[in-house]
Amino acid sequence: MCELYSKQDTLALRKKHIGPSCKIFFAADPIKIVRAQRQYMFDEKGEQYLDCINNVAHVGHCHPEVVKAAMKQMELLNTNSRFLHDNIVEYAKRLCATLPEKLSVCYFTNSGSEANDLALRLARQFRGHQDVITLDHAYHGHLTSLIEISPYKFRKGKDVKKEFVHVAPIPDTYRGKYREDHPDPTSAYADEVKKIIEEAHKNGRKIAAFIAESMQSCGGQVIPPTGYFQKVAEYVRAAGGVFIADEVQVGFGRVGKHFWSFQMHGEDFVPDIVTMGKPMGNGHPVACVVTTKEIAEAFCSSGMEYFNTYGGNPVSSAVALAVLDIIENEDLQGNATRVGGYLTELLKKQKAKHTLIGDVRGVGLFIGIDLVKDHQRRTPATAEAQHVIYKMKEKRVLLSADGPHRNVLKIKPPMCFSEEDAKFLVDQLDGILTVLEEAIGTNPEGVTISENTPGRTKKPKEAHVELLSEGAPEQKENPSQKRNGLCTDKQSQLSKRLKT
Ligand SMILES: Cc1ncc(COP(=O)(O)O)c(C=O)c1O
Repeated sequence: MCELYSKQDTLALRKKHIGPSCKIFFAADPIKIVRAQRQYMFDEKGEQYLDCINNVAHVGHCHPEVVKAAMKQMELLNTNSRFLHDNIVEYAKRLCATLPEKLSVCYFTNSGSEANDLALRLARQFRGHQDVITLDHAYHGHLTSLIEISPYKFRKGKDVKKEFVHVAPIPDTYRGKYREDHPDPTSAYADEVKKIIEEAHKNGRKIAAFIAESMQSCGGQVIPPTGYFQKVAEYVRAAGGVFIADEVQVGFGRVGKHFWSFQMHGEDFVPDIVTMGKPMGNGHPVACVVTTKEIAEAFCSSGMEYFNTYGGNPVSSAVALAVLDIIENEDLQGNATRVGGYLTELLKKQKAKHTLIGDVRGVGLFIGIDLVKDHQRRTPATAEAQHVIYKMKEKRVLLSADGPHRNVLKIKPPMCFSEEDAKFLVDQLDGILTVLEEAIGTNPEGVTISENTPGRTKKPKEAHVELLSEGAPEQKENPSQKRNGLCTDKQSQLSKRLKT
């Protein structure tokens, strides 16, 4: 067994000792994952789940080359970056080679939040400006400085928006302010940013930065229209600010054709600062800020040293190097293009079949399915989305729903996701939507998803507020259970030792 405790005891200990604001997936019926490999995760009973959400395990869970690189370096040396070491410079060199030439200076951190916090410091030091323009529904990290610029967070809490923060409308042509029927949504959304800058100037404020994910993830898998970033960068730079591209979720080849998502917008668009994290270490905490020489020199001129105990240490750098090698050697960008394209095609066919699917959007292995109650008004099908992710879990497929209305099914799996996985995912989704739509009939808005809705999961003893369709999975035996649930003797002995 891979467990120290029974699932029930783990849950009880978690409730007792882990802060209540740390939420778990499928809170009404959590899954205890004890091991994972490639795009599959296994619970304590050996049940196999298809992982469609862990973009951190970029090259596949527990990739042996990543594990080997970490172990090899751990045995030799791990220390901070004040000593000369080849790994950090080799990684910086390799990373910069993936970016446009002017992005040539790296600062290493341990998380995406740290990277974005540092990016803000760089931007503010550059011209001495303070204000930040952020997109509605954006999430940029959990530090105080980032909650302040993350409407996804501050709109939910009691905090009011700070005076130095300006929120621009999300450039979403499906359910945003300007849609696909607008003659020029690109300019319309960019003009909103221009207006914000003009208004800020009128009030004596100065823009330090515009920050955006190259594709918005928590905000509902939104792909900005081509040309939007170019126009925004022009307005922001004219105001003395810089453009920060947050690639923490969407970098490292997820979009397939390009290594960075911002590159989809054309070669004439180069951000001033790029932040990255999650997939960079395949689960090992390593992140980075890359910027221009000019911005780096301005930051240095403050006289303050940048020191980060763990940032870019030899082990983290070795892991990150292994990830780069695997992306290349296993042609994971090619895989993202092929499998992502295939999956998107299958999903578009599903859209023609299911009234609940309002939109399917995506690039490579970054895909969103916007569920709606009616196509014309695009009323978000929030309860239905929650229902679907719970039913998918029963089918052993891990999905999540996000976006401002929590109605967008998010797909961002490890990059080794296969066409068979894509087909399996879509077949399960098809079955669940068919049953749900039959239950809803022709009047989705008039129906409340209840315990009597066919295909609805049973009501759990302890309901969780975020969910409308919770329940325990069917207890049927999965043929892969025995095969895949076995842990090594080493693990089982360790577990015994720890128990005593
Ligand atoms: C777009 C984006 N930026 C930054 C972060 C923060 O990264 P971390 O959780 O590693 O601090 C996240 C985390 O989800 C994110 O989605």
